[in-house]
Amino acid sequence: MKIEIITIFPDLFTEVFRFGMIQQAQQKGLLEIEAINLRDFTTDRHRTVDDRPFGGGVGMVMKPEPLFAAVESCMGDNSSPPHVVLLSPQGQLFDQNKAKELSLMTRLILICGRYEGVDQRVADHLVDEEISLGDYVLSGGEFGAAVIVDAVSRLIPGVLGRGDSVLQDSFMDGMLDYPHYTRPAQFRDWKVPESLLSGNHREIERWREEQSLKLTKRRRPDLLHVKENDNESS
Ligand SMILES: C[S@@+](CC[C@H](N)C(=O)[O-])C[C@H]1O[C@@H](n2cnc3c(N)ncnc32)[C@H](O)[C@@H]1O
Repeated sequence: MKIEIITIFPDLFTEVFRFGMIQQAQQKGLLEIEAINLRDFTTDRHRTVDDRPFGGGVGMVMKPEPLFAAVESCMGDNSSPPHVVLLSPQGQLFDQNKAKELSLMTRLILICGRYEGVDQRVADHLVDEEISLGDYVLSGGEFGAAVIVDAVSRLIPGVLGRGDSVLQDSFMDGMLDYPHYTRPAQFRDWKVPESLLSGNHREIERWREEQSLKLTKRRRPDLLHVKENDNESS
């Protein structure tokens, strides 16, 4: 999978993808990430990417021309057509299902807004979808793009080994993950639950399912409703 990130701050990404699973995915040739400097697609001496809003008001708006030029330049390289995403608080909320969906793409372009946001014609005519990281406002799309790259990369087949099965992760089956413990079996006054020490795989499996259900009911009952509705409609 190739992911191109269009940003006015490409240097923000020089270190962030050089660690752990994302670095390994790149070394295995399963993932290629490129940060593209939006200013390289400007035509004026000052490399201007923003302008004042029509209708007045505070703040600046990102101009459409450099953004269209940047995306069209990515599309011009004859590889598979990319899925183009604009990071935006007005977009659809990013969740594990969206991460799964994006992990099936061969090519992804993530556009990071700044200032008051981007000219509406970008959202209307350039991108396939707008994605929001949550109901809060960030100063730019870059950290959201990094979150999307991380969540999507670990779902690309072959990126994680069999020992790191993502299938048991929270949200993969509409539930939260069960609690995990490691040695020592007792730390201070706190003991690891007996079931996990029993060596009985069925009992361990039952305990994990119960814990996962309990935790989901207590903290995220909304997930169970979604799961019930999915089961009814299938
Ligand atoms: C300061 S924000 C613009 C906020 C915009 N005026 C609004 O109120 O919706 C600048 C850029 O940060 C990014 N951004 C901010 N919050 C975001 C969020 N929750 N999810 C995704 N991107 C976000 C977007 O790319 C946005 O264009």
